[in-house]
Amino acid sequence: MTTDPASLTKAAAKAEISLLSASVRKANAAYHTDDAPEISDAEYDALKARLLALEEAHPDLAKPDSPTRAVGGAPAEGFSKVRHRVPMLSLSNAFSDEDVAEFADRIRRFLSLGDDETLDIVAEPKIDGVSLALRYESGRLVEAATRGDGAEGENVTANALTIADVPETLSGNVPEVFEVRGEVYVMNDAFAALNADQEARGEKVYANPRNFAAGSLRQLDASITAARPLRFFAYAWGDVAALPADRQSAVIESFHSWGLPTNPLTKACRSSADLLSHYRSILDQRATLGYDIDGVVYKVDRLDWQERLGFRSNNPRWAIAHKFPAETATTLLEGIDIQVGRTGALSPVARLHPVTVGGVVVSNATLHNEDYIEGVDSNGAAIRTGGRLMIGDTVQIYRAGDVIPKVLDVDTTKPRGTEAFVFPEICPECGSAALREPGEAVRRCTNGLSCPAQAIEHLKHFVSRGALDIEGLGTKQIEAFHGDGLISEPADIFTLRSRQESGDIDLFRRDAKGRPTNQKSVDNLFDAIDERRAPDLARFIFSLGIRHVGDTTARMFARHYLTWADFAGAMGNASDDPEARDQVISIDGVGEIMADAVIAFFADAQNHAALERLIAHVSPVDAEAPATDGSPVAGKTVVFTGTLE
Ligand code: IVH
Repeated sequence: MTTDPASLTKAAAKAEISLLSASVRKANAAYHTDDAPEISDAEYDALKARLLALEEAHPDLAKPDSPTRAVGGAPAEGFSKVRHRVPMLSLSNAFSDEDVAEFADRIRRFLSLGDDETLDIVAEPKIDGVSLALRYESGRLVEAATRGDGAEGENVTANALTIADVPETLSGNVPEVFEVRGEVYVMNDAFAALNADQEARGEKVYANPRNFAAGSLRQLDASITAARPLRFFAYAWGDVAALPADRQSAVIESFHSWGLPTNPLTKACRSSADLLSHYRSILDQRATLGYDIDGVVYKVDRLDWQERLGFRSNNPRWAIAHKFPAETATTLLEGIDIQVGRTGALSPVARLHPVTVGGVVVSNATLHNEDYIEGVDSNGAAIRTGGRLMIGDTVQIYRAGDVIPKVLDVDTTKPRGTEAFVFPEICPECGSAALREPGEAVRRCTNGLSCPAQAIEHLKHFVSRGALDIEGLGTKQIEAFHGDGLISEPADIFTLRSRQESGDIDLFRRDAKGRPTNQKSVDNLFDAIDERRAPDLARFIFSLGIRHVGDTTARMFARHYLTWADFAGAMGNASDDPEARDQVISIDGVGEIMADAVIAFFADAQNHAALERLIAHVSPVDAEAPATDGSPVAGKTVVFTGTLE
């Protein structure tokens, strides 16, 4: 990943651009559309920076639809759409002092400023939340919209009105039309308490305060938003009839006088040195602010200069975000544990001496696989200077504001650990053989659903959001039910009610007189389970947790086979009929690896029996064949020419 972009051949650059574009798009969708990031901000920034560098070195390979030219994700379905009269853009990033000096120099050059002219720049924290546009007409809030893809967002007016920091009416001399823009965020302590509450109730758990804020703002039921203590800072504007001042700083002061919350750490600076000193001061205060910030934003103060500077693709030339480095900490690697996942993968986890990173206590970090512990990648190349990780090593870990902490490197200035970790060749959960197939990085337990760890992860997946999504049956409840021997496979979920009614089991907690104290929640759980007895075929296929079958593949299978009987029948036949296997592979989007994984799943006697038991209680609803008749283009070949935006 570190070859100089200019020295790459066209073919190599093209291949890397295509891979990176796919990764950035996937990360965008996970972050913006699903509120569930899969990679850290720092990793995302690195991917995007590399993609930009490649596109700059090879402009002929830069695609018009490249994710470097897009802002955010497409709006989710469910809310009505709002077209932004003034697009909601994003900021380009600076990562070093040099980048900041270059930003100021670039502006001076662009504006042809003389040495005697000062360039006033406002510096303020970059709030790590979700942006919101508030349209006021005659001082009254008439519409609130999320950023969406920058051109079109979601209408969240009802939700915004529940936020105490968002005034319904502005006071003072407010222009007739004024669209205020700013950031919705949540205080860290409120996030921690409410997220714990969510988890206890088996509801969605958010990765970080920002995702919590985004998820809370985008609730279709505004009463849920109302129950979340969202906050707001105003820092910019969109469509306006007039401006109250000719400087950024003065407009923000007007915001304050109109009753809008503005950030107290906003400061007018006169030089790059001023900017950097304010940056350092904000960085020092970061851990005690009580809300997440991920950098400092610099904006040219004079609005006539902002106007002259204008925009470069999706970013203003007059502003930049100086990002904070990922937070790191140094601590002792006390041990390595092995966790067994849904598909039997043995994942090593570093057990760390607890240490605070970015306000969060970290006591473990992912180590990916055995090569990672050895310090090499899949080609055997070194991935860190410290080499193989030894128990007792002092390691530097980082947490880029969110997601799972990782090991950056070994601190080789400290005495090295002496105990090498021997990666187990038997599953630590069930004692069966754990095999590493040639060419694979991962070692897997071979015991399938008879391994208790695989069984429980399977159950968690089965009830999860994209799968059967059973309300009130989250990770915690699954663990408790599994631990109490009440549920050992998916079919058992659907017999809970009858077993309770026949007295085989008792889910009630009882008071001293033997009366149930949790009757209502048990009844609700039974009802939620009953609601899922006829799931969509695609959801049902996804819920089975077959390796390589994600929700997109599951939808593809559902669209192809339409009924559970046809899907299961085809997979059953394919295990000993090469022609039937070829038919599976011939489905658009299904490759050999995926086909073989599904066929193997159905061929396994244990899986087969568990499916039979499950299907006795669940009737997947047939999928609909994609409509092709009646369309004016049915049966025709359509040729597009020119370019499409
Ligand atoms: S100004 C033309 N100021 O960062 C861009 N943005 O990548 C105007 N953000 O979408 C944005 N704090 O959600 C601005 N003080 C601040 C900010 C801020 C957070 C977010 C905002 C924007 C993103 C830019």
